[in-house]
Amino acid sequence: MALQVEELTISPPRQGEVLVRLAAAGLCGTDMHAIDGELPLPLPCVLGHEGAGVVERVGSGVTELAPGDHVVLLWRASCGRCLYCSLGRPALCDLGLRIRQTGRMPDGQTRFHRADGQEIHHFLGASTFAQYTVLPEAATVKIRPDVPLELAALIGCGVLTGVGAVVYAAAVPAGSSVAVFGTGGVGLNVVQGAALVGAERIIAVDTRQNKLEMARTFGATHLVNATREDPVAAVRALTQGRGADYAFEAIGLPATIAQALDCVRKAGTAVVVGLAAAGALVSIDPVALMQQEKTLRGSLYGSSRPRVDMPRLLDLYVAGKLKLDQLITRRYPLNEINDAVAAMRAGEVARAVITL
Ligand code: CU
Repeated sequence: MALQVEELTISPPRQGEVLVRLAAAGLCGTDMHAIDGELPLPLPCVLGHEGAGVVERVGSGVTELAPGDHVVLLWRASCGRCLYCSLGRPALCDLGLRIRQTGRMPDGQTRFHRADGQEIHHFLGASTFAQYTVLPEAATVKIRPDVPLELAALIGCGVLTGVGAVVYAAAVPAGSSVAVFGTGGVGLNVVQGAALVGAERIIAVDTRQNKLEMARTFGATHLVNATREDPVAAVRALTQGRGADYAFEAIGLPATIAQALDCVRKAGTAVVVGLAAAGALVSIDPVALMQQEKTLRGSLYGSSRPRVDMPRLLDLYVAGKLKLDQLITRRYPLNEINDAVAAMRAGEVARAVITL
């Protein structure tokens, strides 16, 4: 289904909300799922969930932000008070989940409308493929103003999701062996997260050679083209026959999730980072899971605390320890967004960035 670019009206920010003028938005796998109808979703909506911009206006009761502030948008708002927020797991916040499920702001209404008054939903509460968006202050993170917004935008999903899965979800220790299935926008960031924590061996698995080559520039030490060899056997062969200490699945396919679990050693951990199509099921061998004491876990939004971790990642970028520029393969104006979708589908780009 092609995306449609059209003019909408946007209501001013209400209590606790901000109006953001977006500078750039990345096209991510979750947007592709939405376009392909693989994600249950309130429609019609303004798509896009990775983005950064400048606060234009604040609603009443907004205390942390002022017009002119640079912000990264969160696709999961966190209330700061619920059980999950209190546990330090803001990605699991119920407020964020409700916004995601309803496609509406916390007061139950949308801020986007067509000229005839039809409500247009918010996508994951972010809706970044737009010049302006309204969202709760709780769905933004204020950032240092000296990092270009098109780079900061990438922190909003792909970078935090990928690096966070390694650093926060799995807490991979230095010297580990790590296999990464899928080296798209998120997978490349799993690779660079593994490099950041000092993994000894980073085995990138993909079916496209161009993406594997890109993984090398982000720190992959070994490349496995799954169209030419069995990735599980290849990972074992590269890890003294044992299997990797950690495996990350950044595609969201049942087959590769099974392979990720298969290729970790006894007591190893496989982390599902990719979003699978709604209703997908994976077959796993429960005997191996139990007898080999493997761990299979998921990671949402890098299991991060965005308010702490996003500024840290930007500091790492400024310190020259995190690659952001190299993630952007191509830039597209909003009216060419369908070309970006096509390039993403063809596996030609790590991140296509929509400039706004
Ligand atoms: Cu995303």
